[in-house]
Amino acid sequence: MKITKICCIGAGYVGGPTMAVIAQKCPHIQVTVVDLNEQRIADWNDPNPENIPIYEPGLSEIVAEARGRNLFFSTDVDKAIDEAQMIFISVNTPTKTYGKGKGMAADLKYIELCARQIARVAKQNKIVVEKSTLPVRTAEAIKSILDNTGNGVQFQILSNPEFLAEGTAVADLLNPDRILIGGDTTQEGEEAINSLVEVYSNWVSKDRILTTNVWSSELSKLTANAFLAQRISSINAMSELCEKTGANVNEVAKAIGMDSRIGPKFLKASVGFGGSCFQKDILNLVYIAKSYGLNEVADYWEQVIIMNDHQKRRFSNKIVQTLYNTVADKKITFLGWAFKKDTNDTRESAAIYVADDLINEQAKISVFDPKVSKTKMLSDLDYLETRENKNNLDALSVFDNAYDACKDAHAIAILTEWDEFTTYDWKRIYDSMHKPAFIFDGRNILNAKQLESIGFVYNGIGA
Ligand code: UDX
Ligand code: UDX
Repeated sequence: MKITKICCIGAGYVGGPTMAVIAQKCPHIQVTVVDLNEQRIADWNDPNPENIPIYEPGLSEIVAEARGRNLFFSTDVDKAIDEAQMIFISVNTPTKTYGKGKGMAADLKYIELCARQIARVAKQNKIVVEKSTLPVRTAEAIKSILDNTGNGVQFQILSNPEFLAEGTAVADLLNPDRILIGGDTTQEGEEAINSLVEVYSNWVSKDRILTTNVWSSELSKLTANAFLAQRISSINAMSELCEKTGANVNEVAKAIGMDSRIGPKFLKASVGFGGSCFQKDILNLVYIAKSYGLNEVADYWEQVIIMNDHQKRRFSNKIVQTLYNTVADKKITFLGWAFKKDTNDTRESAAIYVADDLINEQAKISVFDPKVSKTKMLSDLDYLETRENKNNLDALSVFDNAYDACKDAHAIAILTEWDEFTTYDWKRIYDSMHKPAFIFDGRNILNAKQLESIGFVYNGIGA
């Protein structure tokens, strides 16, 4: 089937950028992104492309080019489903907060709602593409819903996991390492796979487009994220050992990264990984392994999460210990709240957990992040339900620049590796702080020697 109309359900961090790039690269395909959230769609339609709801370098330019031409954002989900030959499902799949599998399994209620809506609306054959990260064998459940509640039309389910990383989403989409498409091994399945291959081959060379069966594709996404997260937990485990032995984790990472079998990427020790995927996907993997009775497999991967939680807690403990075992009423400034640089996403950011620990110790947290609003920070803390909103509000003050945020602070903690942090006038910041002035560099981005020569007491990760 030659695809001329695509619909994507879910205008989030994945659906929005992915569809914008498809629309830009395939002017002959009409791409409609729909979402239940009216405000989100209104924001995507903001006349000024700079105001779209997701910040990704290069994204607003692409939206400016394609929007209104062949890229549309709408809340009319039924119409978009009805018109499209191919429907991407890109809704969120958070970890369950209730019932069986609570805290581990993915909550598939939104996926199921999408499947039921597609089944109800579709009057012609459709290809349904799973874009959200899902537990293995979800395609089967979607197929069963579509076939049993639909109007007798044929559905093909494809798995097409997204490997883009936030902050580099546009570059990752334009120039992907690989595109993975899983589908049925029947003739209809292969035809559906080919339709999607054709879409991507408008800008991706065919040797980078990999096709597999549905289950391999679903599992590959979880495996890729588990491997990436495992590298970070591995180097973070070493960072603690480095601190005890006098080794320097940056030097160790460089030394092992030069082994071409290991490679240099994802070896940066940090306060701990965050983001919407790593923890959720590993928990999913653990849950699936356990459900098949594979306890050793489950325990092996769960350790990656345990290590990450330990790393976050270790960071806040170190701040308290270094500040003479009390941070009560002390102002501690966070530079960065996002889970990594170049994004306004804060999901599972280490900053949230470190702030929570320090507020429990009655510290006053002041924050500057170039892209994250105070409302977002507060809702992140409220979501943990450690204390009432009012108490979070009292404990948190947010500034629109680092110099004001650091004034009169006892310590600074770097939580996100924003480039601009390395360009500050650190002498000016030092002069405005309580002495001794401490820096806890949770990202190892600052120049320790230079800061020490100014007078700071510098603490990095793993040195
Ligand atoms: C994506 C993937 O879908 C998720 O599985 C992956 O692990 C992380 O990335 P993301 O795009 O980041 O999720 O999520 P989010 O930014 O929350 O966007 C999802 C959108 O779907 C939201 O705008 C939400 O309003 C919308 N939605 C959700 C619907 O339109 N319908 C629903 O039924 C549920
Ligand atoms: C990840 C995967 O990289 C991507 O392929 C998948 O589709 C979604 O999940 P993302 O979560 O956007 O992408 O960001 P990523 O760059 O992987 O970083 C995740 C976390 O690990 C961040 O908190 C980051 O700061 C941290 N990290 C990364 C480290 O602490 N050290 C590193 O060496 C690399």
